[in-house]
Amino acid sequence: MAVRQILKMGDPRLYQSCELVQEFNTTALTGIIEDMFDTMAEYNGVGLAAPQIGIYRRIVIFGLESNDRYPDVEAVPETILINPVITPVSEEQEEGWEGCLSIPGMRGLVSRYSKIKYSGFTPTGENIAREVEGFHARVVQHECDHLDGILYPLRIRDIRNFGYEDALVQPDSGESETSPDSGPC
Ligand code: NI
Repeated sequence: MAVRQILKMGDPRLYQSCELVQEFNTTALTGIIEDMFDTMAEYNGVGLAAPQIGIYRRIVIFGLESNDRYPDVEAVPETILINPVITPVSEEQEEGWEGCLSIPGMRGLVSRYSKIKYSGFTPTGENIAREVEGFHARVVQHECDHLDGILYPLRIRDIRNFGYEDALVQPDSGESETSPDSGPC
């Protein structure tokens, strides 16, 4: 178990597509996932994708416990999702502020599908299938984008809605599902 270095935006390794995991229930896979959780915890993230620590496999982790101090931030179950597939439930999208451990100190307003179905596998190869919305749906879309080499600034429609956390004015941050308190993905 180890905290790994997180690749930062600008590093070309973040822009490559990742390969499917072929073997489940292996010590190598377990080791990667432990390092991902250690790294996410160290940097107070709510999600992390394997390529952010230089592993080019289709593995993401995420989760956020409910917190009395931030009742507006919706809890997301701790999840390890391997070889994920996302299907939008409808065309409806919503905007929300996102951060990323590969882009420390910054935030951007990103449009994502409001409701999605996602599926994938656990580390032991069991199926996961869920239908989710809101912040949970946003986190999954953000993390899975990493597996295709897409960082959230590539999805910002108006680049003026991208900037430093302490400089941005976020008029709805008090109610937003992705307020700064919810942490970067
Ligand atoms: Ni990210």
